[in-house]
Amino acid sequence: QKLDLELAAIEKGGYDHFMLKEIIEQPQAIFDSMRGRLDLDKLTITLSGIEQYAEQICKANRIVIVSCGTSWHAGLVAEYLIEELCRINVEVEYASEFRYRNPIVNEGDVILAISQSGETADTLVALENAKSKGAIILGVVNVVGSSIARLSHAGAYTHAGPEIGVASTKAFTAQLTVLELIAIKIAHIKKTIDEQQYAHLLKELSAVPDKVQTILDTQLPKIREIARKYKDARDFLYLGRGYNFPIALEGALKLKEITYIHAEGYPAAEMKHGPIALVDENLPVVFVATKDRYHEKIVSNIQEVKARKGRIIAVITEGDEVSKGLAEDYIEIPDADEIVAPILSVIPLQLLSYYMGVERNQDVDKPRNLAKSVTVE
Ligand code: AGP
Repeated sequence: QKLDLELAAIEKGGYDHFMLKEIIEQPQAIFDSMRGRLDLDKLTITLSGIEQYAEQICKANRIVIVSCGTSWHAGLVAEYLIEELCRINVEVEYASEFRYRNPIVNEGDVILAISQSGETADTLVALENAKSKGAIILGVVNVVGSSIARLSHAGAYTHAGPEIGVASTKAFTAQLTVLELIAIKIAHIKKTIDEQQYAHLLKELSAVPDKVQTILDTQLPKIREIARKYKDARDFLYLGRGYNFPIALEGALKLKEITYIHAEGYPAAEMKHGPIALVDENLPVVFVATKDRYHEKIVSNIQEVKARKGRIIAVITEGDEVSKGLAEDYIEIPDADEIVAPILSVIPLQLLSYYMGVERNQDVDKPRNLAKSVTVE
């Protein structure tokens, strides 16, 4: 039994849990997802799988993204990226809905499949159906040689390495990184971004691993303190706008999975259409409020919640004194272009869920009722 514990400890690289190990590994995993692909000197993105289908992608009337859970959240970020940078219409579908509702899939439609395991039953069957109708299937998958990877016409592996924790962390940020590469590459081919913006985005993306490392080096004590403070709360709201809206959804999912506390992600501006009735002095509201084009708006959303005595926890860009003055607790992350910011803004939310799970003595690596790969329908 002692030997088993020692073996397990070695497997976890000395960390208490796989989930923490995998969160800490993210600078490396994000770097690995760009390795051999992003060349900052030559200003090139090499994605041979995607390049084979670049013409079909550029000509596509729409791109349909099919995935589940955390991978579906990655799909939402990709929707904002591809629509903004490539000016191609994107629809993001829950695989389980897409497969049963007899969707419209035309010859030549481009389907982007996002899956860590590459074995998720709902995603796999949805893709088989779409492929049989003549769609082009491009896979963004972590497990090499998995069913979804083999079914795809082409794609790009995320190279996050094996993810043992049931809750997805490094696989998610590696998915986001590959999706950023795809969007920037297609936009450059389509000339929907100019050379200057292209170079800027490549520079921003290549700086992400170091910025993630900065968060991991500086924010853990603060996040652990916040986790202790709110570990007994019964309900959370996670709010964000634009690129940070899918990150609010992902933060809420992480909390549910790891702590079993109910949490709901929402577009911050949507609060006034009903959910703000939930706000009172017992409700922690996590704002993903990094500096971007929406910042002024989300600050006013924070003020709306504060006026109703909501308890505000904010993920903010370092030095954002306005948000610091409004939040009860805040976590600072390095400044970054909003296009790549989601890869950074999710890190504090992963850690908040992890430390709250630990404070609540829960099995953070194998939460109740969950499986690492949902191969059943
Ligand atoms: C992630 O934290 C969840 N465990 C779950 O939602 C997961 O993202 C979903 O089941 C999809 O899995 P896949 O990426 O392997 O297809």
